[in-house]
Amino acid sequence: MRSTMIGLLRPLLVVCASLLLLLLLLPGAHSRIPRYTNGFHYQDIGNGNGNGEIYFNGVRLLVESPQPSVSATRGSSVTLPCHYHYEPEPTAPRRTRVKWSWLPANTVGAPASAENVVTETEVMVAMGNRHLSYGSFRGRVRLRRSAPGDMSLVINELQLNDTGRYRCEVIDGVEDESVTVDLELRGVVFPYYSQTGRYHFNFYEAQQVCQDQDATLATFEQLFTAWEDGLDWCNAGWLADGTVQYPITVPRDGCGGVDLDPGLRSYGQRHRLLHRYDAFCFSASVKGTVYFLKHLTKLNFTEAVQACARDGSQIAKVGQLFSAWRLMGLDRCDAGWLADGSVRYPITKARANCGPPEPGVRSFGFPPLFLKFGVYCYR
Ligand SMILES: *[C@@H]1O[C@H](CO)[C@@H](O)[C@H](O)[C@H]1NC(C)=O
Ligand SMILES: *[C@@H]1O[C@H](CO)[C@@H](O)[C@H](O)[C@H]1NC(C)=O
Repeated sequence: MRSTMIGLLRPLLVVCASLLLLLLLLPGAHSRIPRYTNGFHYQDIGNGNGNGEIYFNGVRLLVESPQPSVSATRGSSVTLPCHYHYEPEPTAPRRTRVKWSWLPANTVGAPASAENVVTETEVMVAMGNRHLSYGSFRGRVRLRRSAPGDMSLVINELQLNDTGRYRCEVIDGVEDESVTVDLELRGVVFPYYSQTGRYHFNFYEAQQVCQDQDATLATFEQLFTAWEDGLDWCNAGWLADGTVQYPITVPRDGCGGVDLDPGLRSYGQRHRLLHRYDAFCFSASVKGTVYFLKHLTKLNFTEAVQACARDGSQIAKVGQLFSAWRLMGLDRCDAGWLADGSVRYPITKARANCGPPEPGVRSFGFPPLFLKFGVYCYR
C-alpha cells in the first residue's frame, strides 16, 4: 500500500524538485526560497503609510505537536497535543481559526477505491471562543486551551472506532499549517470464526460478528502490533480495510511455507460480498468486570445465561473475555460458556494442566449446548 502512495507522490516530488532547481538558477532568487521548516513563511501586508507604500513583515506561523502518536484506553479521555506560535511574536493579536479533522484508522495508508473513499472528516472547528463539533464527535470534544496557542484536542468517552490520524490545522488569513497526531487504543486482537466452521464470513458479516462480540474489525496496525506481540494464526481473516491477512511468527508449511519470513501474510483486497474468511477482531473494553461465576454445579448453555442474569449481570462476550485477559490480567483455569455459545478460559500465567506453555485465551470451540461447564459473566 505504501509503495502505491510513494508511486503517486513521485511525479509530484519530481515537479517540486524541478521548480526548486529553477528558482535556484534564477539570478537573485535566493532570498525568495523559504528555509525548509514545518512552518509556513509568508509576507504580511501591513497598513499602507498613505503614500501607496506597503510594509512587509516576515512572520512565520509554526504548528507543532510534541507527540506524533498517543495511545489510550476505550472509554477514557485523551488529549491530542497541538500548539501554534508565531516567529517573531506579532504585536497585534491575530485572527486564527483551528480545524481538527480525522482520517479513520482503517483508511490510513489504504488505496482509494469506490468502497474505500479516503477523506478526512471534520472533528471540530474553533474560532475565538466559538466552536463546533461534528458527527460522532459532537459533544465529546473540546480544545484544551491551557496556554495561549494551545489547541490540543480533548476527546472524551473514547470509542473503538475513534482510532486513526488526526490533523490539527491552524488557519490564518488564507494560509494554513498543520500537524498530525495518530491515536491508538490499547487493546487486543483475536481471531474469530463461525460456529459452522472456518471461512464463513464475507466482509460485512465479519464486521457484524466482531460487533456482536463487543469488538470491531482490527486495523492493519492493530494486527501488526499483535503479531509483534507473538500472535500466530494460520487462518486468514478480514481486516477493517477490506484486506485479508494472517499473522505468522513461526513459518511452516500450509501457512505460507518455510521460505517466507515471519510476518503478516496478505491476500490483499478481497471481494467484500463474495469472498469468505474468518475475522480478526479488536477489543478494548475496560469498563466493567468479567468474572467466573461461583456456582455449585456445572451448567448447560441455557442455565449459564440464566445464572449470570440472576447474578445481576450478563453472560460475557468473547471480546470482553479477551480484554479482561489482556488488559486486566484475568487468569482462571476453568472452562466457561460465553455469549456466542463458545467455551473458553483465560490464562495469563501458563502452568501445568491449563493448556499450552504460553499465555492466551484457550478455546474449546462451540460444544453442543447441553454439555455442562462453568460460565463467565460481565457486569
Ligand atoms: C463509532 O461507534 C459508535 C458506537 O459504537 C457509533 O455510534 C458511531 O456511529 C461509530 N462511528 C463511525 C464513524 O463509524
Ligand atoms: C439445560 O437444562 C435445562 C434443565 O435444567 C433444560 O430445561 C434445558 O433445555 C437445557 N438446555 C440445553 C441447551 O440443553
